[in-house]
Amino acid sequence: MSDPIPADLVERLRSARRVAVLTGAGVSAESGIPTFRDALTGLWANFRAEELATPEAYDRNPELVWRWYRTRRLAVAAAQPNAGHRALVRLAECVPVTLITQNVDGLHVRAGSREVIELHGNITRVKCSREHIVVEEFADTDELPFCPRCGAGLRPDVVWFGELLPAGALERAQDAARAADVFLSVGTSNIVEPAASLPWIAARAGATVIVVNLSDEGQRAGPGIHLLRGPSGVVLPELVGALTGEE
Ligand code: OAD
Repeated sequence: MSDPIPADLVERLRSARRVAVLTGAGVSAESGIPTFRDALTGLWANFRAEELATPEAYDRNPELVWRWYRTRRLAVAAAQPNAGHRALVRLAECVPVTLITQNVDGLHVRAGSREVIELHGNITRVKCSREHIVVEEFADTDELPFCPRCGAGLRPDVVWFGELLPAGALERAQDAARAADVFLSVGTSNIVEPAASLPWIAARAGATVIVVNLSDEGQRAGPGIHLLRGPSGVVLPELVGALTGEE
């Protein structure tokens, strides 16, 4: 089930000069990739984030961290973009969109979105843990591989807790939030900073904020913030369909 789309939201989207979209794990849930914080299916239900997604965890047990991320990387490679990802491609054909994602799965790009701001990196890339240079060729097994240049262990090119976001990515995302007339926040629990502040940067600058989420739990409410409840693979195609007049 999803909420009906109010006509005035569609109008605001249609007349928007700039739209910013922030996505989180929820947008990839329908591609079969577990979200982080959903109680039963979330990845963190089986593993503690701080045990695996930190530089300290890697220093302590690089093999374990490598193996865990490799499992996720293979799952991402086997997954396909869903109707939500595809609707965002169509949205960008109708209005100027800056797409910002917290996801590391690369599914927006595979769906056809261009110039995606990947705030947390991309799990399909592997880099040297010392010099942070991307390494293209390595033996992809459960055994930890090493950098061909310096011999340090390899790791996924994702942002771990306590690490900086990729240079320039946050600034570009904040600029897009400030410039947006409409800000769409899709499938994110909106608790991990600095991405979590982006909708409120947009709201303070006068944007209409549209939240697309399965649940209203934990989502901020207030003037100018509209929640469309339902799976993003259903709500986003409905929203874009209403915009284009197609079903
Ligand atoms: P979370 O797992 O925290 O939140 C997923 C959100 O998606 C929740 O609000 C769900 O209600 C919603 N959701 C689930 N299925 C959905 C669906 N089909 N359609 C719409 N909404 C759905 O994921 P994120 O907010 O992305 O960071 O988490 C943010 C960051 O926390 C991640 O990027 C990751 C993690 O620690 C790093 O790894 C640095």
